[in-house]
Parts: sequence; structure tokens; C-alpha cells
Amino acid sequence: MALLEVRNLSNRYILRGENGLGRKTVKPVLDAVNLDIARGEIFGLVGESGCGKTTLGRCILGLIDYQGEITIGGLRQESRAKARHRRAMARKVQAVFQDPAAGLNPVKKVGWLLEEPLRIHGLGSAGERRRRAEETLELIGLDISYRDRRVDELSSGQKQRVSIGCALMLGPDLIIADEPVSALDVSVGAQILNLFLNLHERLGCSLLFISHNLDLVYYFCDRIAVMEGGRIVEQGPAEQIYSAPKQPYTQKLLEASRLGGGPAERQRT
Ligand SMILES: Nc1ncnc2c1ncn2[C@@H]1O[C@H](COP(=O)(O)OP(=O)(O)OP(=O)(O)O)[C@@H](O)[C@H]1O
Ligand SMILES: [Mg+2]
Repeated sequence: MALLEVRNLSNRYILRGENGLGRKTVKPVLDAVNLDIARGEIFGLVGESGCGKTTLGRCILGLIDYQGEITIGGLRQESRAKARHRRAMARKVQAVFQDPAAGLNPVKKVGWLLEEPLRIHGLGSAGERRRRAEETLELIGLDISYRDRRVDELSSGQKQRVSIGCALMLGPDLIIADEPVSALDVSVGAQILNLFLNLHERLGCSLLFISHNLDLVYYFCDRIAVMEGGRIVEQGPAEQIYSAPKQPYTQKLLEASRLGGGPAERQRT
């Protein structure tokens, strides 16, 4: 059985007029999406801006309304899940977003932030939480002195490492990484990608890696789904999608990715 199963997922946003007045309009986004991610797999979701990638991630996290079925590690996600259900799902799925500072209180110390998920879930004694935070600092490549550093003293790359650390604290089976390097400069982004690969190797968690760049997704992922206008138009092993794309849309994405440089050296097998 797959770790993540998405079945016939659709959603739409309800847009209200100015100041919440006027006629409501309905904007359909996702359209009958089906997706499986295996345990330990790195799965890439690629598509142009506005096609619905983040929306799919938010559905999987139970943050918004949807129709269809989402199951993670045998637990069924709920459409716009209540806080209690989201807490239960938090051990199954966590997310890292594009903005490294998103969700990090700038005046808190790194150690406090890392321990926060454990406190919320009532896990461990104070000493155990501290030890887990120290282990996580090592995992994310920050030395122990960072425990007492405030978030607003960190660089963007270091903030993204802390976001990743917070996502790891409950030992989730799946991490959704939504454009996690798009806001970083190229060399820092490459370090963060390597960190993800390293964590994947050490911890074995599955990754849903979201990007608009097919080159990047090819370098990084075992399998890829290509999304266009809220639908998955092509899905398969990374090698197959990259070397022999069937859909004209995938070919277009490939050309756009290659404008940014030559084809990526694929380092994963
Ligand atoms: N909260 C919202 N309310 C209404 N419409 C929304 C909302 N969030 C997203 N949309 C719309 O839904 C569509 C899909 O947006 P989404 O953010 O999922 O795209 P994306 O593929 O992640 O794009 P990007 O690559 O730019 O991040 C877009 O047309 C967007 O304008
Ligand atoms: Mg997005």
C-alpha cells in the first residue's frame, strides 16, 4: 500500500466580491487528481505557476476544502480538518514552504522553536525535548550554538534549515517541500537540496517536492507528476518523463527549464 493515496481529488475556491460583498464566484482549481507516493520515495510535482501545486499540498495537509479522498499512512485526511484531526495527522505529514521565515516567530530562539511541536503534542520531558532538539540541529547541519540564536539573527538558508528541523521533530512519514529553494540564491538553494537528500538517506521519509522547474525535479526525484490547469497530465519515473515526455505541455516545461542552463546532471539513480 502506498504511503500517500490521493483519489479523485477536486477543489474550488469561492471568491467573494470586494469587501466580502457582491456576487460570489467559484474558481475550480484541482480536477480529479490521482496520486500515489510510496514509502521512502521522492516524488516531484511540477507545473507552471498557478496550475494548482500549492493547492494540492494544502489539501494533503487538510488546510482547505476538497472533494475526493486523501489517505496518509492508513489515516484518512479530512477536508478542512479541525485542529484536533490536524494534530493527529501532524505525525504523518509536515510541510516546508518557499518563504524560509514562514511560520518561524522571529524573536524566538531556535531551540525553543524546535521543541515547540513536542510541547504541543505533550511529548517527552524537558530534558528529552532538549536532547531531541540538539539531535535535530546536527541533522540540519547547524552546530549546537544555534540553539540559543534568535531566528531574526539567521540568514535565509539557516532559517530554511530551522523550518526543515521543525518539520522533522515529530518524525513524519511524509514531508511536502513546496518550492523550498525558490527564494534562496543558487548556491544556498543547492545546499538545501543536498540537505533534503541527506535527510532522506538518513531518515527514509517520503518527500513530495513541488517545483515549477522540471530540470530540478528530475535531478531530485524518483517519480514525477506533471500538472497543467489542475490536472495531472503525465506521471511516471523521472527518467522517462525527462527523456521521453509524451505530452506537449511537458516538452514545453522542459524547454522552459533548460532556458535556465543546460540539462541537469542526474545524480540520483
Ligand atoms: N486562497 C485562494 N483563494 C482563491 N484563489 C486561490 C487561492 N489560492 C490559490 N488560488 C488560485 O488557485 C490557482 C492555483 O494556485 P496555486 O497557488 O495552487 O498554484 P501554484 O501551482 O502553486 O503556483 P506557483 O507556482 O505560482 O506557486 C491560481 O489560479 C490561484 O490564483
Ligand atoms: Mg505554489
